Amino acid sequence: MINMSNYLIIGASSGIGKKLAEQLIVSGHRVYATYFKNKPVNNAGLPDYHYLNVLDENISLDFLPESLDGLVYCPGSINLRPFERIKPSDFVADFNLQVIGAIKIIQAALPRLKKAENASIVLFSTVAVQTGFSFHTQVSASKGAIEGLSRAMAAEFAPKIRVNCIAPSLTDTPLAAHLLNNDQKREANALRHPLKKTGTPENIADMAAFLLSEKGSWISGQIFHVDGGMSSLKV
Ligand SMILES: NC(=O)c1ccc[n+]([C@@H]2O[C@H](COP(=O)([O-])OP(=O)(O)OC[C@H]3O[C@@H](n4cnc5c(N)ncnc54)[C@H](OP(=O)(O)O)[C@@H]3O)[C@@H](O)[C@H]2O)c1
Repeated sequence: MINMSNYLIIGASSGIGKKLAEQLIVSGHRVYATYFKNKPVNNAGLPDYHYLNVLDENISLDFLPESLDGLVYCPGSINLRPFERIKPSDFVADFNLQVIGAIKIIQAALPRLKKAENASIVLFSTVAVQTGFSFHTQVSASKGAIEGLSRAMAAEFAPKIRVNCIAPSLTDTPLAAHLLNNDQKREANALRHPLKKTGTPENIADMAAFLLSEKGSWISGQIFHVDGGMSSLKV
């Protein structure tokens, strides 16, 4: 029998976070979900949604219960441009969304995470941190910081709270829609991967669900490359 856990998913209204929310609910867990611009229509398979903008100065998590077993932070961006065309303020904007946003949420949730037996935090990086790709400086700068943050927090919060990070390659979500918006792009992207497929939200949500669960209870401080073999295989 599965113990029911309380999970917070920031950015559960789209892509990977939405799929994860659905999976956790099917498994019998209680999901506290947030949206920013797109509130999903009420549906039996989805949680109740709370509005939250991670760029706001004051973050309130008043809707959460006393104790929280897991937190997943999904807001991110994929801005691909030549380095010389990116303004320093663009780097700062990405950093605020991906890194400072995660820091504010984790700090706000920490007292509740500390009250759980085996709490777990999951953050997202990208394949473009371990492997260098042209036009990826903006996203790689922020996601590189997320990887460092994940490991350092894992050390500081051990043994009470585990922290891990997933580094996906291109995954078929609304965030990546502009990179997969015709058959030619979809096929070319699949073929770039040793496993000859584009990632699905399920592929990434499955790993997040595992890291949240009791099955991941001896894993912390890791970066998981869920990327169709992109970062480590030459075929
Ligand atoms: N998809 C990929 O190819 C890919 C590849 C590598 C890494 N990743 C990473 O994986 C994570 C999830 O990506 P995804 O593809 O599932 O993204 P997505 O479909 O764009 O979903 C992002 C979620 O974050 C929410 N969000 C955006 N801005 C926010 C803000 N200011 N405050 C609060 N919430 C906000 C969105 O809410 P609304 O929709 O309600 O506005 C949405 O629920 C991201 O960190 C991304 O960088 C994705």
